[in-house]
Amino acid sequence: MHSLEDLRAEAERAIKQAGSLKALRDAEVAYLGRSGKLTQILKTLKDLPEDKRRTMGAEANETRKLLELLAAERTASLKREEYEQKLKLERIDITRPGKRYHKGGLHPLTIIRRDIERIFGSMGFAVAEGPEVETEFYNFDALNIPADHPARDMWDTFWIKNPKRDPKAQRLLLRTHTSPVQVRYIQKHAPPFRIIAPGRVFRYEATDASHEIQFYQLEGLMVGRDISLANFKQVMQTFLGKLFGKEMKVRLRPSYFPFVEPGAEVDMSCVQCGGHGCSVCKHTGWVEIAGAGMVHPKVFQSAGLNPKDWQGFAFGFGIDRVAMMKYKIPDIRMFYQNDIRFLRQF
Ligand code: PHE
Repeated sequence: MHSLEDLRAEAERAIKQAGSLKALRDAEVAYLGRSGKLTQILKTLKDLPEDKRRTMGAEANETRKLLELLAAERTASLKREEYEQKLKLERIDITRPGKRYHKGGLHPLTIIRRDIERIFGSMGFAVAEGPEVETEFYNFDALNIPADHPARDMWDTFWIKNPKRDPKAQRLLLRTHTSPVQVRYIQKHAPPFRIIAPGRVFRYEATDASHEIQFYQLEGLMVGRDISLANFKQVMQTFLGKLFGKEMKVRLRPSYFPFVEPGAEVDMSCVQCGGHGCSVCKHTGWVEIAGAGMVHPKVFQSAGLNPKDWQGFAFGFGIDRVAMMKYKIPDIRMFYQNDIRFLRQF
């Protein structure tokens, strides 16, 4: 049987040396628990003579209190240690360089198309769409370009073969321009209106730095009682000014498109040199940007509108070309090669 003294020393050691909360709990049970060593001693007290029992009893109680206090302190410090250990393990080194993660981005043509839609939107233009596979009627005939008309040569066309076609049915093609959307829109909507129609078009041509077999165009159409080319010039000037973020000049040169009369080629001041003359504008200060004109009476007629009641302007330009000028891209084919080194720059 231990003396109380020895027991206390032993218990103190066990408590102090407990390296974990679990070990401490075990020590507590071993000495202070219901069948622990100290409890055992207390149980033997009743067999001692009166005076001894009293002093031993007092001592034993004191020992118990002391050991309980020690255990409580040890618990607290173990908990602190454990917490600090946890903090150390979970520590985040905020000075380390961050992880770069690669997110997808918008294609430059999407970015610019959205810019363009937003700008025209701010001028009250709605966005319209038409199919990429078009009928001969909408792409040509309705636009005053009949089957045997030499103007058809202006657009090198991808015709869609269909040997089983009903001879009365329309021949299909990949639209060569977005102008058919004009006809489709006029058929379904009552003027006055103003729309833009962005979309993909196709040309059966050899490719080079400024030609692709597919590219994007943006058609514009504004119809009312007295819409004029002066309105068009103002709209174009405002649009280009907002897109390029500086004042832009616009000039119209007489030109021919079967679906407008009069027709014009639209030039804007060269973005590169600001109109002073450089290699981009071939030292003229002007860059050709769009085709435009007053909607031809025959177009209104084929879309079911009386040209005596309504008039308006139409225009069309290449979105790719505008993007090339805005971002200074030297080759239109870059848009379609999906080279990540190119795409990442936007
Ligand atoms: N559709 C013509 C083209 O692709 C451009 C244009 C549109 C010209 C509207 C005049 C009016 O060349």
